[in-house]
Amino acid sequence: KPELFIYDLDGILTDTAEFHYLAWHKLAEELGISFDRQFNEQLKGINRMDSLDRILALDPSKGQLSTDRKLELASQKNDYYLTLIEEITPAHILPGMVDFLDANKKTNAKIALGSASKNAPAILEKLGLTSYFDYIVDAAKVKKGKPDPETFTAAADALGIDYSNCIGIEDASAGVEAVNRAGMFSVGVGDSAHLSHADYLVEDTLKLKFEDVLSQFHKKKA
Ligand code: BG6
Ligand code: MG
Repeated sequence: KPELFIYDLDGILTDTAEFHYLAWHKLAEELGISFDRQFNEQLKGINRMDSLDRILALDPSKGQLSTDRKLELASQKNDYYLTLIEEITPAHILPGMVDFLDANKKTNAKIALGSASKNAPAILEKLGLTSYFDYIVDAAKVKKGKPDPETFTAAADALGIDYSNCIGIEDASAGVEAVNRAGMFSVGVGDSAHLSHADYLVEDTLKLKFEDVLSQFHKKKA
Protein backbone atom coordinates (compact mmCIF):
# COMPACT_ATOMS: atom_id res chain seq x y z
CA LYS A 1 0.00 0.00 0.00
CA PRO A 2 1.25 3.51 -0.70
CA GLU A 3 2.07 5.28 2.57
CA LEU A 4 2.80 8.76 1.26
CA PHE A 5 1.56 10.94 -1.59
CA ILE A 6 3.81 13.86 -2.52
CA TYR A 7 2.11 16.60 -4.49
CA ASP A 8 3.75 19.16 -6.71
CA LEU A 9 2.14 22.60 -6.30
CA ASP A 10 2.46 24.70 -9.47
CA GLY A 11 0.43 22.98 -12.17
CA ILE A 12 -1.00 20.24 -9.92
CA LEU A 13 -2.85 21.92 -7.06
CA THR A 14 -3.30 25.25 -8.85
CA ASP A 15 -2.57 26.78 -12.21
CA THR A 16 0.36 28.97 -11.11
CA ALA A 17 2.49 27.25 -13.78
CA GLU A 18 0.83 29.70 -16.18
CA PHE A 19 1.74 32.68 -13.98
CA HIS A 20 5.38 31.56 -13.78
CA TYR A 21 5.38 31.43 -17.57
CA LEU A 22 3.84 34.90 -17.94
CA ALA A 23 6.26 36.44 -15.44
CA TRP A 24 9.39 34.89 -17.03
CA HIS A 25 8.14 35.79 -20.48
CA LYS A 26 7.72 39.45 -19.50
CA LEU A 27 11.20 39.60 -17.95
CA ALA A 28 12.77 37.89 -20.98
CA GLU A 29 11.07 40.28 -23.41
CA GLU A 30 12.56 43.19 -21.48
CA LEU A 31 15.98 41.60 -21.97
CA GLY A 32 15.31 41.17 -25.68
CA ILE A 33 14.97 37.41 -25.35
CA SER A 34 11.85 35.66 -26.53
CA PHE A 35 10.74 32.11 -25.83
CA ASP A 36 7.58 30.10 -26.43
CA ARG A 37 5.44 27.63 -24.50
CA GLN A 38 7.39 24.74 -25.99
CA PHE A 39 10.61 26.06 -24.37
CA ASN A 40 8.66 26.83 -21.20
CA GLU A 41 8.16 23.09 -20.64
CA GLN A 42 11.88 23.00 -19.76
CA LEU A 43 11.35 25.64 -17.07
CA LYS A 44 8.55 23.81 -15.27
CA GLY A 45 9.67 22.46 -11.91
CA ILE A 46 13.04 24.24 -12.16
CA ASN A 47 13.98 26.59 -9.31
CA ARG A 48 14.20 30.36 -9.76
CA MET A 49 17.93 30.85 -10.42
CA ASP A 50 18.24 27.76 -12.61
CA SER A 51 15.25 28.99 -14.65
CA LEU A 52 16.94 32.35 -15.15
CA ASP A 53 20.15 30.64 -16.29
CA ARG A 54 18.21 28.59 -18.83
CA ILE A 55 16.57 31.72 -20.22
CA LEU A 56 19.86 33.66 -20.40
CA ALA A 57 21.47 30.72 -22.18
CA LEU A 58 19.02 31.28 -25.05
CA ASP A 59 21.07 34.34 -26.02
CA PRO A 60 24.81 33.73 -25.47
CA SER A 61 25.58 37.09 -27.13
CA LYS A 62 24.44 38.73 -23.88
CA GLY A 63 27.53 37.28 -22.19
CA GLN A 64 27.99 36.37 -18.52
CA LEU A 65 25.98 38.53 -16.13
CA SER A 66 27.24 39.27 -12.64
CA THR A 67 25.70 37.46 -9.71
CA ASP A 68 24.22 40.73 -8.45
CA ARG A 69 22.57 41.44 -11.80
CA LYS A 70 21.15 37.92 -11.89
CA LEU A 71 19.74 38.27 -8.38
CA GLU A 72 18.16 41.56 -9.43
CA LEU A 73 16.54 39.92 -12.49
CA ALA A 74 15.29 36.97 -10.44
CA SER A 75 13.77 39.34 -7.93
CA GLN A 76 12.14 41.36 -10.72
CA LYS A 77 10.56 38.18 -12.06
CA ASN A 78 9.30 37.34 -8.60
CA ASP A 79 7.70 40.80 -8.30
CA TYR A 80 5.81 40.17 -11.56
CA TYR A 81 4.81 36.76 -10.27
CA LEU A 82 3.64 38.08 -6.89
CA THR A 83 1.37 40.58 -8.65
CA LEU A 84 -0.15 37.76 -10.70
CA ILE A 85 -0.82 35.54 -7.67
CA GLU A 86 -2.23 38.28 -5.46
CA GLU A 87 -5.80 37.27 -6.27
CA ILE A 88 -5.46 33.54 -5.67
CA THR A 89 -8.30 32.03 -3.63
CA PRO A 90 -9.60 28.48 -3.02
CA ALA A 91 -11.54 28.92 -6.29
CA HIS A 92 -8.18 28.55 -8.06
CA ILE A 93 -7.62 24.96 -6.94
CA LEU A 94 -7.43 22.84 -10.11
CA PRO A 95 -10.54 20.74 -10.91
CA GLY A 96 -10.79 17.46 -9.04
CA MET A 97 -7.91 18.11 -6.65
CA VAL A 98 -9.99 18.67 -3.51
CA ASP A 99 -11.76 15.34 -4.16
CA PHE A 100 -8.39 13.70 -4.69
CA LEU A 101 -6.98 15.12 -1.45
CA ASP A 102 -10.13 14.10 0.43
CA ALA A 103 -9.82 10.54 -0.88
CA ASN A 104 -6.14 10.55 0.16
CA LYS A 105 -7.10 11.79 3.64
CA LYS A 106 -9.59 8.94 4.09
CA THR A 107 -6.78 6.39 3.73
CA ASN A 108 -3.85 6.03 6.11
CA ALA A 109 -1.47 7.44 3.51
CA LYS A 110 0.24 10.69 4.47
CA ILE A 111 0.22 13.87 2.43
CA ALA A 112 3.27 16.01 1.58
CA LEU A 113 4.04 18.90 -0.71
CA GLY A 114 7.11 18.68 -2.96
CA SER A 115 7.57 22.11 -4.52
CA ALA A 116 10.53 23.94 -6.04
CA SER A 117 8.94 27.28 -5.16
CA LYS A 118 9.90 29.67 -2.38
CA ASN A 119 6.33 30.95 -2.59
CA ALA A 120 4.80 27.52 -1.95
CA PRO A 121 3.74 27.91 1.72
CA ALA A 122 2.06 31.27 1.01
CA ILE A 123 0.18 29.90 -2.00
CA LEU A 124 -0.98 26.83 -0.09
CA GLU A 125 -2.39 29.24 2.52
CA LYS A 126 -4.21 31.31 -0.10
CA LEU A 127 -5.73 28.11 -1.50
CA GLY A 128 -6.84 27.10 2.00
CA LEU A 129 -5.10 23.73 1.67
CA THR A 130 -2.38 23.94 4.33
CA SER A 131 -4.23 21.77 6.86
CA TYR A 132 -4.23 18.75 4.51
CA PHE A 133 -0.45 18.53 4.63
CA ASP A 134 1.60 16.43 7.03
CA TYR A 135 4.83 17.88 5.67
CA ILE A 136 5.91 20.62 3.28
CA VAL A 137 9.06 20.63 1.18
CA ASP A 138 9.70 23.94 -0.56
CA ALA A 139 12.79 25.50 -2.15
CA ALA A 140 14.17 26.47 1.27
CA LYS A 141 14.38 22.81 2.39
CA VAL A 142 16.53 21.37 -0.41
CA LYS A 143 20.06 21.86 -1.72
CA LYS A 144 19.42 20.41 -5.18
CA GLY A 145 16.26 21.24 -7.11
CA LYS A 146 14.34 18.99 -9.52
CA PRO A 147 15.27 16.89 -11.51
CA ASP A 148 17.40 15.89 -8.51
CA PRO A 149 15.28 13.56 -6.32
CA GLU A 150 15.98 15.49 -3.09
CA THR A 151 12.62 17.32 -3.03
CA PHE A 152 10.84 13.97 -2.87
CA THR A 153 13.26 11.99 -0.73
CA ALA A 154 13.30 14.85 1.84
CA ALA A 155 9.54 14.46 2.35
CA ALA A 156 9.77 10.67 2.72
CA ASP A 157 12.77 10.93 5.07
CA ALA A 158 11.02 13.49 7.28
CA LEU A 159 8.01 11.19 7.65
CA GLY A 160 10.09 8.00 7.89
CA ILE A 161 8.59 6.29 4.87
CA ASP A 162 10.22 3.91 2.37
CA TYR A 163 10.66 5.49 -1.06
CA SER A 164 9.07 2.45 -2.71
CA ASN A 165 5.84 3.19 -0.82
CA CYS A 166 5.63 6.77 -2.09
CA ILE A 167 3.77 8.29 -5.01
CA GLY A 168 4.80 11.62 -6.54
CA ILE A 169 2.37 13.70 -8.63
CA GLU A 170 3.88 16.11 -11.15
CA ASP A 171 3.14 18.23 -14.23
CA ALA A 172 6.79 18.89 -15.10
CA SER A 173 9.22 16.73 -17.02
CA ALA A 174 11.97 17.55 -14.47
CA GLY A 175 9.52 16.67 -11.68
CA VAL A 176 8.63 13.25 -13.07
CA GLU A 177 12.35 12.58 -13.51
CA ALA A 178 12.94 13.54 -9.85
CA VAL A 179 10.19 11.16 -8.66
CA ASN A 180 11.57 8.32 -10.77
CA ARG A 181 15.12 8.91 -9.54
CA ALA A 182 13.81 8.82 -5.96
CA GLY A 183 12.57 5.28 -6.65
CA MET A 184 8.95 6.32 -6.20
CA PHE A 185 5.88 5.74 -8.36
CA SER A 186 5.41 8.72 -10.69
CA VAL A 187 2.09 10.16 -11.76
CA GLY A 188 2.28 12.67 -14.61
CA VAL A 189 -0.45 15.18 -15.37
CA GLY A 190 -0.08 16.62 -18.86
CA ASP A 191 0.77 15.43 -22.33
CA SER A 192 2.84 12.45 -23.43
CA ALA A 193 5.19 14.59 -25.51
CA HIS A 194 6.75 15.84 -22.25
CA LEU A 195 5.79 13.24 -19.66
CA SER A 196 6.22 9.85 -21.34
CA HIS A 197 8.61 8.79 -18.54
CA ALA A 198 5.77 8.84 -15.95
CA ASP A 199 4.65 5.46 -14.54
CA TYR A 200 1.06 6.61 -14.98
CA LEU A 201 -0.07 9.55 -17.10
CA VAL A 202 -3.36 11.46 -17.27
CA GLU A 203 -4.16 14.48 -19.43
CA ASP A 204 -5.42 16.83 -16.74
CA THR A 205 -6.36 16.95 -13.06
CA LEU A 206 -10.02 16.19 -13.78
CA LYS A 207 -8.92 12.80 -15.11
CA LEU A 208 -6.84 12.14 -12.02
CA LYS A 209 -8.79 9.67 -9.84
CA PHE A 210 -7.49 8.40 -6.52
CA GLU A 211 -8.69 4.82 -7.12
CA ASP A 212 -7.03 4.71 -10.56
CA VAL A 213 -3.71 5.84 -9.12
CA LEU A 214 -3.93 3.14 -6.43
CA SER A 215 -4.65 0.40 -8.94
CA GLN A 216 -1.83 1.54 -11.26
CA PHE A 217 0.55 1.58 -8.29
CA HIS A 218 -0.42 -2.00 -7.39
CA LYS A 219 -0.20 -3.10 -11.00
CA LYS A 220 3.41 -1.90 -11.19
CA LYS A 221 4.29 -3.67 -7.94
CA ALA A 222 2.72 -6.97 -9.06
C1 BG6 B 1 8.20 25.56 -9.48
C2 BG6 B 1 7.69 26.04 -10.80
O1 BG6 B 1 7.15 24.99 -8.76
O2 BG6 B 1 8.74 26.63 -8.72
C3 BG6 B 1 8.78 26.81 -11.55
O3 BG6 B 1 7.28 24.93 -11.58
C4 BG6 B 1 9.33 27.92 -10.66
O4 BG6 B 1 8.24 27.35 -12.74
C5 BG6 B 1 9.83 27.31 -9.35
O5 BG6 B 1 10.39 28.60 -11.30
C6 BG6 B 1 10.40 28.35 -8.39
O6 BG6 B 1 9.39 29.19 -7.94
P1 BG6 B 1 9.62 30.50 -7.06
O7 BG6 B 1 8.23 30.85 -6.61
O8 BG6 B 1 10.52 30.13 -5.94
O9 BG6 B 1 10.23 31.50 -7.95
MG1 MG C 1 4.67 21.87 -11.39
